Amino acid sequence: MYALRVPDLLTHVRGCTFDDFLFAPQYSVIERRDPATIDLSCRLSEHLTLKRPLVSANMDTVTRAEMAIAIAEEGGIGIIDRGFRAGDIEPQVREVEKVKRRQHGVIPDPYTIGATTSLAEAAERMRRTGVGTLVVVDGRNRLEGLLTTRDLRFITPGTVDTVGSRMTPLDRLVLQQGGISSADAEQVMRTEKVKKLPLVDRDGTLVGLITAKDLLKQRQMPFATRDAQGRLRVGAAIGAKGDYLERAAELIRVGADVVVIDIAHGHSVVMARAIDAFRKRFGDIELIAGNVATAEGTRFLTERGVNGIKVGIGPGGGCTTRLNTNFGVPQVEALVACREANDRRVPLIADGGVKRDGAVLQALLFGGDTVMLGSFFAGTTETPGDTVQKAVVLPESHRTVKVPFKVFRGMASLQAIVDRLDVEDSEAADVEAMGAEGTEVSVPARGSVRPIIRNTLKHLCSSISYGGARSLCELQEMFRKEPERYVIRLTEAGRRESFDR
Ligand code: XMP
Repeated sequence: MYALRVPDLLTHVRGCTFDDFLFAPQYSVIERRDPATIDLSCRLSEHLTLKRPLVSANMDTVTRAEMAIAIAEEGGIGIIDRGFRAGDIEPQVREVEKVKRRQHGVIPDPYTIGATTSLAEAAERMRRTGVGTLVVVDGRNRLEGLLTTRDLRFITPGTVDTVGSRMTPLDRLVLQQGGISSADAEQVMRTEKVKKLPLVDRDGTLVGLITAKDLLKQRQMPFATRDAQGRLRVGAAIGAKGDYLERAAELIRVGADVVVIDIAHGHSVVMARAIDAFRKRFGDIELIAGNVATAEGTRFLTERGVNGIKVGIGPGGGCTTRLNTNFGVPQVEALVACREANDRRVPLIADGGVKRDGAVLQALLFGGDTVMLGSFFAGTTETPGDTVQKAVVLPESHRTVKVPFKVFRGMASLQAIVDRLDVEDSEAADVEAMGAEGTEVSVPARGSVRPIIRNTLKHLCSSISYGGARSLCELQEMFRKEPERYVIRLTEAGRRESFDR
């Protein structure tokens, strides 16, 4: 046995974080370390599960629709930040809508148009909405036909022709009365050689649309995080003051799957009030709250009936809370403390401080059910913000080259606060009065986040193999039952040998 005995894990990890530990390898029982066959499923919150334990952080330089779509398609979930200008709820709502409209099983409310509308207007509507099919309906929403981009080829500018003149009319459509499973819809599309299947009720009223593209995506992305209607899942963050309840109402209206009350210090009177008001207004809508980093903070949130808890005070890559206030808990200690205090087993999100793939595993074993990543994804194509070219001097040749960079910043950085302050924002004003607790940095642009996610998942599968388990869940159980079999606390030399490269 390589590991020290750990009679009490919490005592053993006091003051420690990820780079303080290695895990002792165990007898491996799997032959292929392949994310397609190893079960990495986990609980995001009490009623939501993911097939991959990764969550992209609600930060304005990390998660908007593009990142949320990518990570949900890869099996995790994104939380859309609330860092838009205060009083302006609409931009965040639009980001959630974009994710929810990206993939469908059945599109319950496809874009429609009337048969007497001009073709020019139909073309403009397709351009505006980004869809290639409009369902043609009469004034009572009864199906009359389908109009696709192919029908709009060769229209002459200023044409007065109407949709009715080019659409595929009802008598030539293949359609389905009532509901249908994805497998049956696929079968119908294959035999009838159609790519769109409108659904109608007995009177011919349009009730939905199934497209071959959506069915294909479902097949190509078996691990994607989807709701019961086949749409990608997405979360959205709100604050605990100001417009937070109106914001939540709008986010829920457009289909946000989980709302996250996210404030710097979640063990607070402000949070207590916000949770009570949220529950009173929205009942049992899935609610995650944070951040906390102590046993008391965890109990405080579980007693208030939240469905998930975000753990982490000050470990974040863009965060200066510990420097500025001297408060915080090293992330491994925080995870173990919150896990041990969490009698009700409310899922925990390990939020912040993960800088390398190996730390993802540590976050998941020491206490997290999932891991939230911010700086880990910084600079990827799917993050919001422009790419700027900067001159960089190469160390060997001293040549100056232009390198593309993107901005990554803490949500409490001065720059992020100033961006939100244009309109009156009591919360941002509070932070400003206290002083900023975050930094802004430029990071090299580094392509799509998807290969980064896939690589992390491969490494996670290798970790499961080294840990002697067959799945993530099994490894978590084995670790939590006998941590002393795994945990090696490193000396300074051990740390250098392990991580200095
Ligand atoms: P990583 O290390 O993944 O951490 O970048 C992401 C988490 O950092 C937190 N965060 C902040 N914490 N001041 C803070 O004290 C900030 O300005 C700030 N911005 C983000 C947040 O919990 C995020 O998920």
